[in-house]
Amino acid sequence: MTQEDLPQVLNIEKSSFTAPWSEASFLSELYNRYAICRAAEVGKTIAGYICVRQISDECHIMNLAVHSLYRRKGIASLMLRDVLGDLRSQGHTALHLEVRSSNIAAQNLYTKFGFSQAGLRKNYYTYPSEDAVLMLLRI
Ligand SMILES: CC(C)(COP(=O)(O)OP(=O)(O)OC[C@H]1O[C@@H](n2cnc3c(N)ncnc32)[C@H](O)[C@@H]1OP(=O)(O)O)[C@@H](O)C(=O)NCCC(=O)NCCS
Repeated sequence: MTQEDLPQVLNIEKSSFTAPWSEASFLSELYNRYAICRAAEVGKTIAGYICVRQISDECHIMNLAVHSLYRRKGIASLMLRDVLGDLRSQGHTALHLEVRSSNIAAQNLYTKFGFSQAGLRKNYYTYPSEDAVLMLLRI
């Protein structure tokens, strides 16, 4: 992902989440040396993106979304597989994330990749208030 991608990325972000990241949040990830931010392109269109933070030997999925027109075509899987390959080769041992308890699509995606539920954070999210399911993959 580059700074030039941000208008399209923000468009996907706003239509995907009730509490979307701001441009400043993306910029701070883009220029964080411990962050991996990648965008998936279909031609010149940004179809999705993933942001992962490397924290010692563990990593955290900070953000992941696919444009609604490009969903269910394997793009999130492609991005996850791509990042996982790099994390593995760099010797990271775990990848974790939080997901809204109602977000079955994302939970299915992560389960398909071997993530399992590692906990529940009550009322973690706002707009609307909702529990977070913590998911973990040993890599
Ligand atoms: C979750 C999301 C990233 C999935 O992206 P995607 O590119 O459509 O995912 P893929 O096509 O790679 O799907 C992989 C698997 O995820 C699961 N999945 C994806 N969308 C699903 C849906 N709407 N319902 C149920 N399962 C779904 C399925 O198991 C799917 O495999 P299958 O198509 O063989 O059944 C996308 O729906 C999205 O951007 N949602 C809004 C933002 C979001 O929730 N981000 C995650 C925050 S933790």
